[in-house]
Amino acid sequence: AETVAQLCDDRELVVVSNREPYSHAREDGEVSVDRPAGGLTAALDPVMQTAEGTWVAWGDGDADREVVGPDDAVAVPPEDPAYDLRRVWLTDEQVEGYYRGYSNQVLWPLCHLDTAKLTPREDFWSAYRETNADFADAILDSTADADRDPVVWFQDYHLALAPRRVREARSDAFLAHFWHIPWPSWDVFRACPQYEHLLDGLLANDLVGFHTDAYCRNFLDCVDAATDARVDRSSRSVSYRGRRTFVRALPLGIDAGRQAALAESDAATEWWAQFRETHGIDASETVAVGVERLDYTKGIEPRLRALERFWAENPEWCGNFTYVQKGTESRSGIPAYDALQDRVAAEVERINDRFGTDDWTPVVYTTDHLPEEGIAALYREADLGLVTPVRDGMNLVAKEFVAAQTRDPGVLVLSELAGATGQLGDEAVVVHPHDAAGFADRIGDALSLSRAESRRRAADLQREVHAEDVYDWLESTFETAAAIERGRRSVRTA
Ligand code: G6P
Repeated sequence: AETVAQLCDDRELVVVSNREPYSHAREDGEVSVDRPAGGLTAALDPVMQTAEGTWVAWGDGDADREVVGPDDAVAVPPEDPAYDLRRVWLTDEQVEGYYRGYSNQVLWPLCHLDTAKLTPREDFWSAYRETNADFADAILDSTADADRDPVVWFQDYHLALAPRRVREARSDAFLAHFWHIPWPSWDVFRACPQYEHLLDGLLANDLVGFHTDAYCRNFLDCVDAATDARVDRSSRSVSYRGRRTFVRALPLGIDAGRQAALAESDAATEWWAQFRETHGIDASETVAVGVERLDYTKGIEPRLRALERFWAENPEWCGNFTYVQKGTESRSGIPAYDALQDRVAAEVERINDRFGTDDWTPVVYTTDHLPEEGIAALYREADLGLVTPVRDGMNLVAKEFVAAQTRDPGVLVLSELAGATGQLGDEAVVVHPHDAAGFADRIGDALSLSRAESRRRAADLQREVHAEDVYDWLESTFETAAAIERGRRSVRTA
């Protein structure tokens, strides 16, 4: 918080994301405020409280509109207001075209290399353009009277075009963008008909951040191939339309200390006792866990197939090895997501019919909302954490699982196709999510690791997730921005 305070001293900080950090709902006639739950919003909230800036986001809560002030902003946190939350209101058509459409049926599958799912409808694109303009206008409006020059920090793929519109009005602003999902190679990226516009939007930023070096390289390749920009690979920068954009790998981390504390809490212990009883999981059983949004990138179906194979080939593990899958319904209304929800439920049922007995359910599947302590308890109690996406920018569940191994550590089984594997791959058991035979064998290997070996691996992994946590990420981001500014000033005065 101190570094952030120093760095933002003479700057007005504006964070922009699709999702809002607080949402307002109406319950029994009373307006209630929902707290930030997601890792990133929870980590940025204290930063914003220190920086006293503005957060611009889609107003999605059913009572958001009732609580805003004259300029669509409300001061948060409610009990001790420190910064402004400014909502962008979206029409139903915008939610359909910008959020469900272009963001999640074009950019999401494109960046996760699933081009067969691309739905490049013209109305999706026009809604995306229009909504990005609305976000940009809200940013411009909320910084119009500020005495300090703004630093605007865009989050993710929903907002690729907004930086250009902000830049056109504010050449003095420092614009940074963090892209939380993978960036594909040029051959894949060009499958999207609007590739030039997307790059033009992002190159209005001074800094564009990705999780890994590979995504940075892919991005520079795309810029090189698709635009007349000058790409300098040694300094990882791009000169375009009279400005320079720096491209940096800034791997996101979690609040590891908080995750460990949650895992250690009495609430976690109580929650687990209750959960075991409800689902008939015996204390002596070996448990594996998977926690994710129900998204086709997360590899839930291939994982279920690998588990099925494991039980089929290792009948001695039937009856005493249970897999708990927490699936959060996500992006419902998009055909690929609705279909996935149905298929996962059907697969679980089929596998449970095949192997289950009167007193053993192989796959315990829940789509219920679980409290944070419950998730932490699942991680802590699991002997294996199965984090096996078919493609993932980073994957913070892998890091949360590691941080929660505060006692009798479990083994992380990690897909080679997750961004996190670059940081955690050496001490995890690495699988290819589509190689069902190899995956099943690796589950067996992971289960037969000695206690000393799994302790050693867990300790190494914990050092990693604690050292490169979300605060480290924030600091690196702000320091990178400050270094770019210093470089500019020294060029100007030389
Ligand atoms: C990914 C994206 C985030 C997004 C989250 C949840 O992690 O990178 O930007 O917020 O998924 O998806 P949702 O569509 O519910 O916001």
